[in-house]
Amino acid sequence: TYVVTDNCIKCKYTDCVSVCPVDCFYEGENFLVIHPDECIDCGVCEPECPAEAIKPDTEPGLDKWLTLNADYAKVWPNITDRKDPLPEAKEWDGVPDKLQYLSP
Ligand code: SF4
Ligand code: F3S
Repeated sequence: TYVVTDNCIKCKYTDCVSVCPVDCFYEGENFLVIHPDECIDCGVCEPECPAEAIKPDTEPGLDKWLTLNADYAKVWPNITDRKDPLPEAKEWDGVPDKLQYLSP
């Protein structure tokens, strides 16, 4: 599966959702997640993210993010259409350790 990681937080560009063939993105207030059981590993979303926040779970060190994607995918609503990024997306792009700002 692919996972959404740190740099999506407070940016939420949503370019990723418009290309997903199986609509497996779920939306929180300032972050999106991928449902790991629904993702078919096609990889098309990865290059679409301007914040480079989407990674394959084969990359090392992503266990925490995989768990977080799986947990929130169960409770957040599905999102299938692109929308405007969060207003301060540009300012937050690249800020380190954004997990502390994640709205549950
Ligand atoms: Fe959707 Fe493909 Fe991205 Fe998985 S890898 S979330 S199926 S676009
Ligand atoms: Fe987030 Fe990137 Fe999608 S910032 S909403 S993973 S396009």
